[in-house]
Amino acid sequence: MSRPAIFNLAALGLAILLLTACERGGRTNAPLTWQNFSIEKLDALGYDRAMVKIPAANPWTAAKAELGRHLFFDRRLSKDQTISCASCHDPLRSWADRAPLSSGLNGHRGRRNAPAVVNRIFSREQFWDGRVGSLEEQAAIPMVSPGEMGESHQVIVAKVEQVAAYRRLFGEAYGDERVDLGRITGAIASFERTIVVYDSPWQRHEMGEAGALSEAARRGLEIFKDNNRGRCTACHSGPNFTDEKYHSTGLGVEEGSPAPDSGRYEVSEAEDDRGRFKTPTLMNVALTAPYMHDGSLQTLEEVVEFYDRGGVENPRWPLDPEMKKLNLSPGDKKDLVAFLEALTGRTTQVDIPAPLE
Ligand code: HEC
Ligand code: HEC
Repeated sequence: MSRPAIFNLAALGLAILLLTACERGGRTNAPLTWQNFSIEKLDALGYDRAMVKIPAANPWTAAKAELGRHLFFDRRLSKDQTISCASCHDPLRSWADRAPLSSGLNGHRGRRNAPAVVNRIFSREQFWDGRVGSLEEQAAIPMVSPGEMGESHQVIVAKVEQVAAYRRLFGEAYGDERVDLGRITGAIASFERTIVVYDSPWQRHEMGEAGALSEAARRGLEIFKDNNRGRCTACHSGPNFTDEKYHSTGLGVEEGSPAPDSGRYEVSEAEDDRGRFKTPTLMNVALTAPYMHDGSLQTLEEVVEFYDRGGVENPRWPLDPEMKKLNLSPGDKKDLVAFLEALTGRTTQVDIPAPLE
């Protein structure tokens, strides 16, 4: 039995109303997905395509990203088949980990907090200390790290090769079905590059949408930018809120801490780099607690208090000269937190795949 036409008309009217309301709000209607992602779309989302960093040897394609999606979620790649990349980079936590320090194979706990794998398309150096120069190089590391996935690259290649549906996807991505480590990491990196944050109140504000930011968040933005108040843009600069450089905020090197993490020094062996860590993006930061390389701060309020104190004066290694006591009022602190919360946007939608056979 068909419904009375009047209901269909009403439904149609409602749909049109909703559509025009969306358009007037200036919002992108169609959600970005790992399938419809393209580099050209970044401009319309408020990013600058010139920020995109992709190695010439691994041009981005949708077919590689699709293959990479399957690999990113595949627990079979780990030694005991229990850990995938997504175990520590959870799509429900903006691709970060709720634990201060992530657990890998056999519950082994690492020494650093898992960063959110978002907006990686705008970055070259990966890890808190920037010890690799690309996502491709990065992806090979957790696979063999004994405390993460703990499997050899050779065995991972063999495991993937055995799966007929994987061979087919390699064919689509690379033109033939050969499986090797470079192709595996190239696909994972291509998948990761599709994950971007967009449509946050801050981005809508930047694109001219009146009223996108709350009053508190607007005041917070001013404090964030002001060199005499928050000073945050000294390091969290640009549309991805990072200068991609290394700074010491003094964390984790307090007197008496058992094994201070010397950060960037481990890579460069330059004395000045002791205790320096990469400035992280702040997009979606309200979703990725706990914070900092050691996961030692639980909330954004705690992070703001930390900066208000001027970081940790540490007896071992000098603090970054940009770290200063801020003397923010309680209202200023609330406003700054409201601004950080306004960096929460929509994130590329990704369907979690079932294991391929
Ligand atoms: C056991 C938990 C765990 C697993 C499994 C894991 N990661 Fe991570 N990931 C981390 C931690 C912790 C860090 C930070 C380590 C550091 O900086 O030294 C990290 C860092 C990263 C980064 C750098 C992000 C940035 O902002 O610098 C990327 C990208 C990444 N992981 C992707 C992956 C991929 C791809 C896989 C699967 C092949 C994977 N991870 C598996 C915990 C994990
Ligand atoms: C001197 C450079 C510098 C300045 C100034 C600075 N930051 Fe940071 N920020 C960093 C670095 C480096 C880290 C990572 C530090 C670590 O893990 O030890 C960080 C981490 C953070 C984090 C945690 C992100 C995460 O994913 O764990 C937040 C939030 C943050 N900063 C907000 C702010 C705000 C708000 C201000 C201004 C009040 C500010 N920052 C000023 C460099 C800076």
